[in-house]
Amino acid sequence: MEFTSKSELDERYYQTLVQMMQSQAYRELAAAQMFGFGLQYVPELRWLKFMSWHIREEMEHYEDVVKMYAEVTGESVEPAVHERLLKRPIEFATSWYELAMAQFLYDRGGFWQLKEYEECSFLPYRKTIEKIIKEEKGHQALGERIVVELTATGAFEDGKQAVFEKWLRQGLLSFGRPSSDGAQYAIGVGLRKRDPGPVMQDFCDDIKPAVKACGLEFPPMARIGIDEPAGGLNLSLDGVDVRRAEGYAG
Ligand SMILES: [Fe+2]
Ligand SMILES: [Fe+2]
Repeated sequence: MEFTSKSELDERYYQTLVQMMQSQAYRELAAAQMFGFGLQYVPELRWLKFMSWHIREEMEHYEDVVKMYAEVTGESVEPAVHERLLKRPIEFATSWYELAMAQFLYDRGGFWQLKEYEECSFLPYRKTIEKIIKEEKGHQALGERIVVELTATGAFEDGKQAVFEKWLRQGLLSFGRPSSDGAQYAIGVGLRKRDPGPVMQDFCDDIKPAVKACGLEFPPMARIGIDEPAGGLNLSLDGVDVRRAEGYAG
């Protein structure tokens, strides 16, 4: 099952696709705004260069989705995105440590979510996502490294768990709710690969080495307002190798 234009799609498929593109546009612009707001907390030129490059890339991802949306629907996605930003204002990071945590977890969540669309049955979406994923790979390691290095200084012991939980929640929200009708439908028609449940697990497994290296713990999901998949998530850090964390110096 593969499609390339609106005329081939039935109503439910089309509406699901429109929703997906709107959420993607929202997430990209939200990322650009959040990292842009955070620029004031960046302490050194080398990280300023990285962060301002990253903001530009998120803005360009937004632009990619805006263009795709206009081609597919003949309309602008911008009013829907702005309405959503008003209704669901994004969280901001208010320190360098928090910005690094956001860079690590919010961005990583977005990456794992995008990977679910790699084989999307709507080919223009697949093409746009492929390009964005390639660029997201370039953001991956650095946020983790900064968090691990800053935490290792011992200067953030008091606040680190709360900051972790705030951005873990934001990362996990990228995936949507497990076992929803919408997710089942999207899987059935090849718009996405898997249910949010296993994607959440992959994301958690991916961040475990850094979580452990930082002396952090996964909170109960209910405490951060995240619905777990039916069988629960494996959040244990037993046997996790801290040496796999970026920036871990032993
Ligand atoms: Fe992005
Ligand atoms: Fe990113």
